[in-house]
Amino acid sequence: MNSILLASNRGPVSFTVSDDGELTMRRGGGGLVSGLSGVAKDDGVLWVCAALSDGDRSAVRLAPGGRIDQAGYDTGPLRMLDIPPATFHRAYNAVANSTLWFVNHLLYDIPNSPNFGTRFEREWESYRDYNGTFALALAENAGHGARVMVQDYHLTLTPAMLRAERPDLRVAHFSHTPWAPPEYFSLLPDEVGGEVLEGILGADHAGFLAGRWAQAFMDCCESLLGAEVDRVGRSVTYEGRTTRIGVHSLGVDGEALWQRACEPDVESNMTALREQVGDRRLIVRIDRTELSKNIVRGLVAYREFLAAHPEWHGRVVHLAFAYPSRHDLPEYREYTASVQRCAKEIEDEYATEDWDPLILNVNDDYPRSLAAYRLADVLLVNPIRDGMNLVAKEGPILSPRCALVLSREAGAAAELSPYALMVNPYDISGTAAALHDALVMPEDERRMRRDKLHAAATALPPDKWLAAQLDALG
Ligand code: G6P
Repeated sequence: MNSILLASNRGPVSFTVSDDGELTMRRGGGGLVSGLSGVAKDDGVLWVCAALSDGDRSAVRLAPGGRIDQAGYDTGPLRMLDIPPATFHRAYNAVANSTLWFVNHLLYDIPNSPNFGTRFEREWESYRDYNGTFALALAENAGHGARVMVQDYHLTLTPAMLRAERPDLRVAHFSHTPWAPPEYFSLLPDEVGGEVLEGILGADHAGFLAGRWAQAFMDCCESLLGAEVDRVGRSVTYEGRTTRIGVHSLGVDGEALWQRACEPDVESNMTALREQVGDRRLIVRIDRTELSKNIVRGLVAYREFLAAHPEWHGRVVHLAFAYPSRHDLPEYREYTASVQRCAKEIEDEYATEDWDPLILNVNDDYPRSLAAYRLADVLLVNPIRDGMNLVAKEGPILSPRCALVLSREAGAAAELSPYALMVNPYDISGTAAALHDALVMPEDERRMRRDKLHAAATALPPDKWLAAQLDALG
């Protein structure tokens, strides 16, 4: 029985299985896992996650009770749930990633989607089952009065389900995404939107990465549920229960990141990159290939910058690392293709015998990403909308002189905007101009800004972030 439990769809590790049945473990990607992996392992928290792939399912079957750590892997306490693939697929791909993610990041092409019909009803049923499986597993593993930290949009129903099962527990929910304003959130069928809000309100504490997202959640509770909202004291009262609302802007463990970035695999990637680009200035971006990250507009802005500033031809390289994500969804496959198309156009237009203006990489390589951060002169982070964006925080920790071009729609803007060059993510010309300003920023100014960014990025490292929420649970 555990006294602190963490639940999320993606766990700290995932497995691939080779043709001869050999399992290989690797770290999971994305903001949630980057943020939480260190703390969960250190503090002996039991992490409950879903098996995402065939490799994960094979690992679960070899682990007693799904306890990966008890099957000889150095993961920290970890229970992986083997949810039937069809149920998992509908809950993760159709509901979480194609619906709730789209709603909270405002991603729909409204004249054509969404469409909620009978197919969605079945998908929603699977989402309920998937949330129920988590609630059951948490109820099984939680000691009396334990504190349970449920993470993200995959698990919005779990808090209320868990409370029904185990009223003795203290439950927190945390959203790593933005939250939609009521008029957009109410694209969801009324019962579905209501269930999501009521599910989260089953928690004692609902956490968000930025004040903006917390406000939007409270607005939804008020206008869709008629709940009583205290915006100043930050709480929502509904059907006699009060859920406290917290804003915890997850930061980075600067020390640990720096140590990792000094390891030999990163150093050798730095050498290789330097050989490839020479002493040219580097504009870096590192993202999942994700619709909300706005990679295509970022590339188009770089093209506009090159067109407007021939003096930079041959003197700058854009390193764009866009590692694969959610490739079961056709929108993501198409998006990856448009990123590649756009990169090719830039190459065709500007590349010369001895200058590659753009290096696009679409495979995952963590040491190479860390090497790119260390070498960056400019870091471009221009999402359409983002819960936080840890890239914006990691870059200034690893690069001594990088200037940050940051979208005003990223949660990180709340803390970083005074020291970053802020952009409207839809304004390509504005982004192109910001890239130029970032490149020509005087040395003393870039170092001053970078130091401030570093301080803001490390203000609430994951251990303090978790501790603050555990405190909030009492
Ligand atoms: C975001 C979400 C996380 C998710 C991550 C990667 O950071 O908030 O919950 O794990 O993206 O996405 P994936 O679908 O690959 O888990």
